[in-house]
Amino acid sequence: RSVGLIGAPFSKGQARDGVQLGPDLIRTAGLVHRLREQGCEVKDYGNLTFEDVSNDEPIGNTKSPRAVGRANQQLANAVQRVKSDGHTCVMLGGDHSLAIGSIHGHAACGSELSVVWVDAHADINTPLTTPTGNIHGQPMSYLIHELHTKIPVLPDFSWIKPCIAAKDIVYIGLRDVDPGEHYILKHLGIKTFSMTEVDRLGIAKVMEQTCDHIFSKVKKPIHLSYDIDALDPSVTPATGTPVVGGLTYREGVYITEHICQTGLLSAVDIVEVNPKQGRTEEEVRSTVNAAVDLVLSCFGRVREGSHQNDYK
Ligand code: ARG
Ligand code: MN
Ligand code: MN
Ligand code: MN
Repeated sequence: RSVGLIGAPFSKGQARDGVQLGPDLIRTAGLVHRLREQGCEVKDYGNLTFEDVSNDEPIGNTKSPRAVGRANQQLANAVQRVKSDGHTCVMLGGDHSLAIGSIHGHAACGSELSVVWVDAHADINTPLTTPTGNIHGQPMSYLIHELHTKIPVLPDFSWIKPCIAAKDIVYIGLRDVDPGEHYILKHLGIKTFSMTEVDRLGIAKVMEQTCDHIFSKVKKPIHLSYDIDALDPSVTPATGTPVVGGLTYREGVYITEHICQTGLLSAVDIVEVNPKQGRTEEEVRSTVNAAVDLVLSCFGRVREGSHQNDYK
């Protein structure tokens, strides 16, 4: 278990200031130290730095395409490096537009991936279906082979090649899906466990069925893209687009514990922690704390406790 950590303090995939503070906040909460304490080797690659982009006019409805395109190209290169160095990659965002670069860089290492997308939102709008113009609501659309013909040309997006098949994606936690997104999900037959399925089946069956789905033939490396707004706003209020009726802390952690157990986790994104959206210190603390715990349980932390082999 060796972890390569990348910070991506980027916010231009959406309008709210503060989400760029996520990486350092999550580090300050002791992530690296606590990963090491539980037996992980950790290499922190530090934060990427993003140049300001001037004259980044919208294309149609879609905002800041050049800034998002360039930031994600940098991130893709960084993730590819972390993977080729042999680590499981942890990308701390930043907003969810960063999944473009993170997944693209991960896929560039050769093998086909499964993507487990844990989120209140599907983030699968295209530039033509987006109701807000925010690219953090669109990243999946650029990555899916089957949507390739639906994506118009955007400046600084030409490096992006679709790299994920619709059948290799599972969504968990959905409860705020736009009509255009719902059409795409149904039309492509993408596997989704909305909060309704979480209620009906319970999180244990959801995870069993998630693994049944992604392990159909070959076992592909898993890319886990975890939007902190998947959790209920009572747990993670400090985020830009909170939606009531989300996953409990326990359901959220169960997902990461289960994915860890597969032994196939190859990269993780933790995105959309925004301290400026917290109304109190306590709200920020609770949100950051949950983010840290999710990463720890991706790498072996279990709630029953554990001990080293040589423990006396
Ligand atoms: N569906 C909305 C949109 O496309 C909200 C997306 C929220 N995405 C997120 N990563 N928090 O703008
Ligand atoms: Mn979301
Ligand atoms: Mn649905
Ligand atoms: Mn998201």
